[in-house]
Amino acid sequence: MKGYLRNRLSLRSLRLSLRFVLPLVVVLALLAFAIVPIVDNLTLRWFVRDMDIRSQLITSTLQEPLLELLQQGNRAKINSLFMRAIQDERLFAVGYCDGKGKMLYRTPNFPSDIVCSLPDTAAYKPRSLLHLTQGPVHVAINPIKDNGALAGSMVLVHDMSFVERRSADTKQYVIILFVILGVVISAITVFIAHLSWRGWLKGMRAMLHGEGLVRPFTQTDNPELQPLVGDLRALLRTMDSERRFADDVTIAWTPESLRSLLHKQLDGDQVLVVSNREPYIHMKGKEGIEVRRPASGLVTAMEPVMRACSGIWIAHGSGTADKETVDKYDRVPVPPDRPDYTLRRIWLTNEEEIGYYFGFANEGLWPLCHIAHVRPIFRSTDWEHYMAINQRFADAVVEEAKSDDPVVLVQDYHFALLPRMIRKALPKATVITFWHIPWPNPESFGICPWREELLRGMLGSTILGFHTRFHCKNFLETVDRYLETRTEHESSTIHHRGKLTLVESYPISIQWPLKVQQTQPSPLECRAEVERSLNLAADMLIGLGVDRLDYTKGILERLRAVERLLELHPEMVGRFTFIQIAAPSRSVLEDYQALDTQVRSLTNRINQRFAADSYQPIILKVEHHEPDDVNRYYRAADVCMVTSLHDGMNLVAKEFVAARDDERGVLVLSQFTGAAQELHEALIVNPYHIEQTAEALHRALTMPDYEQQERMRSMRDLVRDFNVYRWAGRMLLDAARIRQREKLAGRIGINHDA
Ligand code: G6P
Repeated sequence: MKGYLRNRLSLRSLRLSLRFVLPLVVVLALLAFAIVPIVDNLTLRWFVRDMDIRSQLITSTLQEPLLELLQQGNRAKINSLFMRAIQDERLFAVGYCDGKGKMLYRTPNFPSDIVCSLPDTAAYKPRSLLHLTQGPVHVAINPIKDNGALAGSMVLVHDMSFVERRSADTKQYVIILFVILGVVISAITVFIAHLSWRGWLKGMRAMLHGEGLVRPFTQTDNPELQPLVGDLRALLRTMDSERRFADDVTIAWTPESLRSLLHKQLDGDQVLVVSNREPYIHMKGKEGIEVRRPASGLVTAMEPVMRACSGIWIAHGSGTADKETVDKYDRVPVPPDRPDYTLRRIWLTNEEEIGYYFGFANEGLWPLCHIAHVRPIFRSTDWEHYMAINQRFADAVVEEAKSDDPVVLVQDYHFALLPRMIRKALPKATVITFWHIPWPNPESFGICPWREELLRGMLGSTILGFHTRFHCKNFLETVDRYLETRTEHESSTIHHRGKLTLVESYPISIQWPLKVQQTQPSPLECRAEVERSLNLAADMLIGLGVDRLDYTKGILERLRAVERLLELHPEMVGRFTFIQIAAPSRSVLEDYQALDTQVRSLTNRINQRFAADSYQPIILKVEHHEPDDVNRYYRAADVCMVTSLHDGMNLVAKEFVAARDDERGVLVLSQFTGAAQELHEALIVNPYHIEQTAEALHRALTMPDYEQQERMRSMRDLVRDFNVYRWAGRMLLDAARIRQREKLAGRIGINHDA
């Protein structure tokens, strides 16, 4: 195969050179034919000038003896003088004309066509070139003076036939010279073209594999190609960013546009998603099997994308009735009411779940990546499970892949090792890994005893996505610190062991419009329903928090801010109720149990402090809520508080905005969320600063309607345009671009493993 490719490449370079050589030969031939007459003319002029000088010289030499002999009237001696003169190879004939223009003496071969002309007459031509029957001749008529007075003129006829011989020779030499020139230039061209083609291929391979994007030019093997590689590289970058810009401006991101992108740009290639949390959980309930939607930002975002892509979602089957609802291949079509895609469940033993999920992922990586002042715990046994489960999911990807180059979307910190494992089994797969949580700085990440293994695992990805540029930067710096790689910060790429990974920010979002919205009652009705169900007065101001019960969410800080509000603004006591929905999460873990206890006790303390009659400032609902319920609360609330201590994005903020089609309600948002970088019209707070958060809450509760409307409208515009289809679409467009490059690399004979 390699030999065949090499032959094809040589043929290609030969064809390339011929394309240059043929025109070169034509041009050289034309040049040669144009140059010969010029050279002829030039040499003739040189010879004529030579003859002129020669004639002058001969005349001067003969003048004195001739005058003497003329005075003596010695005809015989004059003739003999002339005969001696024409012994010269070139001098053909000599003649002498007297002062009246009569030819008195001449050698016998003197051409009869040549006549005397006097220097002072109009017919006098001192020098001329004539074509006689004998051939071309040079005729010079030079005056002979005796003591300054004109005595006569000497006519010297030089044979010029040698000029023709010389011209024929010159023609021959010029043609030979041009033929040699053509051959030499062609040989050099073919040689250079061959070298350049190989070098160009190398350069292209480097670029397509990303080397050119990573490696400084000075390190390329062909320094003469560096400017070309540089130009191409710059061109590719410009094209990329222009294409991205054009995509952003021209594509309205909807499920349909995402679907058509998949078909047009990715040729309908198979899409596989891998996440730990499954989108639909089957649970055994009192009335049979119930389907649950988990509280997970990841699931909220991925589910609409999967419905648009109709692929396969591989996830941990964690529900009590999950096994009963799958087929013999552990697959179940979802959504259960109107299936759009397939959920493939992976089973874990209790011990595996404790080691891989609770242990390594949630006691190790989760606190490692969040600055929430909870220390990570790393155990070797957890690590063993983490590796084994990542391998199990990788095997499932291989089983489900219908081709050797599927598009695999790997989700989150549960699967840092998976990208490399997939790449090993399916080298042509496009692996897009999205890290849904923050990425810490290199020092913090360095705490992890298996930091190099994790980084290497992640670098199996074709694209590695984070929510913000800041997280990308942290990742690039972490890799720089702990691995031997070539990292190019400008293009945000990492080249590691012959594989290129693009590290890019893709801020995640939600479906637009929210599916639940279509069946929801109006905000007024929602409010009435919430008031009724919680026994709230009709004019009660409602604050809302919706989170998993997680220490990163800043729930305690939020409750303290509510308490401070009631202290600072006593008029709010009895007028303001804060509803905290907290979905139980990872409750096996001590830190989560401790948080549960703290949240409950703080709520009790605040409630005891400010409660009056049926009034409770805080309503804590630690239970699972389905999306419909949550949406009803969003639509009923005056204020939504998102006070995470650290959060990759936080989709609650965006869901609240999406739910408010009445353009009312205020969002109080932590500056430590990814969402704060997009939702500038929220009231941005530092959740550690209790007074500041309390004042922001007060401002939100007293904000005039028109201001609420302006802020909400602007945030809704953003969430509408930057929805989850755009998030997935941008990643898939980048993936399609990379796949096209890799296919091009394949077409020009570049081996991926090279
Ligand atoms: C975060 C993570 C997700 C996870 C979700 C819920 O959003 O990024 O990967 O699914 O929390 O956590 P859980 O452990 O219940 O899946």
